[in-house]
Amino acid sequence: MQQFIEHMPKVELHLHIEGTLEPELMFELAKRNNVSIPFASAEEVKQAYQFHNLQSFLDIYYQGANVLVKEQDFFDLTWAYIEHCQQDNVRHCEIFFDPQTHTARGVEFDTVVNGIHKALAQAKEQYGISSHLIMCFLRHLDEGAAFDTLKQALTHKDKIIGVGLDSSELGHPPEKFERVFQEAIKEGFLTVAHAGEEGPSSNIQDAMSLLGVSRVDHGVRCVDDPKLIETLQVLQVPLTVCPLSNIKLKVFETMEEHNVVELLRQGLCVTINSDDPSYFGGYMTENFLQVAMAHPIEVDELAQFTRNAIKASFIDDSHKQQLMQEINHYVDAFQRK
Ligand code: ADE
Ligand code: ZN
Repeated sequence: MQQFIEHMPKVELHLHIEGTLEPELMFELAKRNNVSIPFASAEEVKQAYQFHNLQSFLDIYYQGANVLVKEQDFFDLTWAYIEHCQQDNVRHCEIFFDPQTHTARGVEFDTVVNGIHKALAQAKEQYGISSHLIMCFLRHLDEGAAFDTLKQALTHKDKIIGVGLDSSELGHPPEKFERVFQEAIKEGFLTVAHAGEEGPSSNIQDAMSLLGVSRVDHGVRCVDDPKLIETLQVLQVPLTVCPLSNIKLKVFETMEEHNVVELLRQGLCVTINSDDPSYFGGYMTENFLQVAMAHPIEVDELAQFTRNAIKASFIDDSHKQQLMQEINHYVDAFQRK
């Protein structure tokens, strides 16, 4: 089973690039940019990663991002993630970035996008790993700030496929961003949003009806509303679930209590993703391994997470077909052994 998971082709749809900042790179960039950080060693940083909810994580996560200043920093950050993709057999990834975390510190929007984009172009060329970039609005900031950010994205439409919504869910419901999402849609961006991570299941419904999302990020609180479950089944609205994240942020107490396998068996289009792997203890393979360790599961069910991610991705149909063939051949070959 471990071998099957390690070598399985994967697609990642919920990954914050700022959440891939490993403590070692944090120290290197702090030194390079002369930014002070409140830790004495990488070991001390790891010790600080004890979270009791989403906000306690976000406070540390935004602080960590302070070391990212130059285009090269964003390139190095993204390239380090791509090396993990290569290691974990991730064939395609759709990556979030939070421009407001950087522009608030005086870092130019262009610096951020260009650094990330150059690394993604190199990933395609060197490893054949394809990608899309999704810009998230920080929901704890106001609508005006989101509109300003959208305006800055307009000259980068060739590099940014969609917009998303992240940060503190409680107290910042989807309706706060309805107008900016409608404007983003008019400008041709696809939309996604974090909903039903810590917040109520009504946020999932509202993300679909008010923000026009193609996917819901997390969405695990859908279990609180049987009618919503039915809607998700019928419409096959994808949920980008992040098992290790949910355990670290106490959305579920244990992996055994996590509902991702149950949702899969109910026929929902659920996928497995790593969210902020540097902070939550693992990249794609580790997320799959920990789910499989906590839940008796068939190899074909594990592969179904990849099939769902291919369907839910923003790649074109012929690319989808090609990846679908690859995962199906992989399962067939494994089962014939
Ligand atoms: N930003 C980074 N990770 C996040 C998460 N899991 N939820 C909301 N905002 C985030
Ligand atoms: Zn997330």
